[in-house]
Amino acid sequence: MICFETHITDSTLEFFQKNLKTLFDFYQINNLVKKVSGINTFFTSQEEATELLEKLKENNSIVSEPNRREYGDFQTNENLSEQVAKYVFLKQNGFEFILEPTCGKGNFILASIKQSNSLKKIVGVEIYQPYVWATKFKILDYYLTNKEINKPEIDIIHGNAFEFDYNQLAKSTSDLKTLVIGNPPWVTNSELGSIDSKNLPQKSNFKKHSGFEAITGKGNFDIGEYISLIMLKCFENHNGAFAFLIKNSVVKNLIQDQKRNCFKISQSEKLNIDSKKEFNVSVNACLFLTQLNTEPDFTCKEFDFYNKEYLTTFGWYKDKFVYSVEDYDKSSIVDGKSIFTWRSGVKHDCSKIMEFERENGHYINGLGKEINLEDKLVYGLLKSSDLKYDKTNTFRKLTIITQKKIGQPTKYIKEDLPLTYEYLSSHKEFFDKRKSSIYKDKPDFSIFGIGNYSFAKYKVAISGLYKSTHFTLVSPKDSKTIMLDDTCYFIGFDDLKMAQIAHLLVNSDLVQKFLKSIIFSDSKRSINKDTLMRIDFEKAFQSNDFEKAKDKISDLEIEHWEEFGEMIKESISEQMTLF
Ligand SMILES: C[S@@+](CC[C@H](N)C(=O)[O-])C[C@H]1O[C@@H](n2cnc3c(N)ncnc32)[C@H](O)[C@@H]1O
Repeated sequence: MICFETHITDSTLEFFQKNLKTLFDFYQINNLVKKVSGINTFFTSQEEATELLEKLKENNSIVSEPNRREYGDFQTNENLSEQVAKYVFLKQNGFEFILEPTCGKGNFILASIKQSNSLKKIVGVEIYQPYVWATKFKILDYYLTNKEINKPEIDIIHGNAFEFDYNQLAKSTSDLKTLVIGNPPWVTNSELGSIDSKNLPQKSNFKKHSGFEAITGKGNFDIGEYISLIMLKCFENHNGAFAFLIKNSVVKNLIQDQKRNCFKISQSEKLNIDSKKEFNVSVNACLFLTQLNTEPDFTCKEFDFYNKEYLTTFGWYKDKFVYSVEDYDKSSIVDGKSIFTWRSGVKHDCSKIMEFERENGHYINGLGKEINLEDKLVYGLLKSSDLKYDKTNTFRKLTIITQKKIGQPTKYIKEDLPLTYEYLSSHKEFFDKRKSSIYKDKPDFSIFGIGNYSFAKYKVAISGLYKSTHFTLVSPKDSKTIMLDDTCYFIGFDDLKMAQIAHLLVNSDLVQKFLKSIIFSDSKRSINKDTLMRIDFEKAFQSNDFEKAKDKISDLEIEHWEEFGEMIKESISEQMTLF
């Protein structure tokens, strides 16, 4: 039967039907429920008891589910809740107090009850009344069918996690071995903003807590992260554990901010779950388990939740925040400052006009139209998806490079290159439509990400869109350099041998290990300028030797190797004199 928009099991129904008369007096029925299940104030008013009484009479079962997007509502299924509870109790047991700060339909509470007979107190908070009922009925049902089991004091509270006084609760439970368990809302403040939701912490409340200014200052913060921080702040001094299902990005932030927060947590574990299978959503999420009231620790071990395969240890190591402590340990020697400036490629925001392909000797633009251009400004163009190979000197796309540096006047095109001018000016409206303010008050047909460096003959390039850390050596085609688009990063060389050595160094085991040790596999655009600028070429060069390089680079002479060594030394001393 459905009542209070929740399903009531047959055994619970039977219980109420047997005690139908007591529903006329909610104190009486509450006492009875407390006796059989430990739940305090099952009904908070006579009206609620009467509502159930009426429902029992009419046996109504029609219910409609409202849109619960603003509540980040992804209920944990029974099986996963039980597996999580089992694992948590395996790591530590003897819990006396269970807190589920956003308990939903109560699967974590029930799964925890099933794991332990030592519980003294349980508190669940939930904003959505039908779920409060679902939790209460679920617990009642469990104790009705497991009569002999010890019954803790249980409060399932209809309330807002942002307003609930967890400090007070922490004080009154400080001597109880505590498990904070759950799965907080999967929603960010900006998603809530976009649907005009008020399900956010009040600004005045967060300021009281350390660490919150940092997350709320991030602009887009995750509600799950916010609730995790409240829990850690309030319960770090309790003996016990904290176990939350949260997004991977939240765990990364918690460990990264641990340096500043210094919560009394340690032996942290991140156990990756399959969110598609468990919640039917494509979000990288995990169980984050950490032990409370311990010497603060700044790393976290990562496993697969299902087979417990060890994946990595990430966190703070040698004063750096790294994805793999083991790999960083072996490669930190090349963590420094790149003597070459990594650049991103050309940006034009006008691909329909500025990008084209060659078909049967003709250029066909993004509108599918054949175009006529002088060759002078036409260059081959590589995108991230073109950087799959170790070396290349071919391209699918071409582009028009209208400037040699940012802001250069483009009037010369009209005078020198009539076909190119005719093409660009007849499509000027496409350029005028470009939204980015960078194009405002700039010469017609302006591009960005352009400078002397763009015209270097050889380039060592990497995609900024993909996870691969492999670098591609790009050589000119028909002696004309090939350009890269703004999703790629590169360093340029005019000499092939210098480019080949740089290419060899960045693809060496040592540099690859280093990059993999600092790149978080599921964060977006993790290969970026900041990451690349950390490659210390001098150290990478010293860790390689000419004999080995000779096997990989054809016609490499010792002079080339020494020239590269000199070049990076000179660049270092140039840098020194700059500052
Ligand atoms: C991701 S669901 C998980 C529910 C439950 N912890 C579980 O694991 O099945 C998040 C829950 O938080 C509740 N919630 C959202 N905002 C809340 C708030 N401000 N206070 C209390 N609960 C809230 C939602 O209604 C929903 O039940």
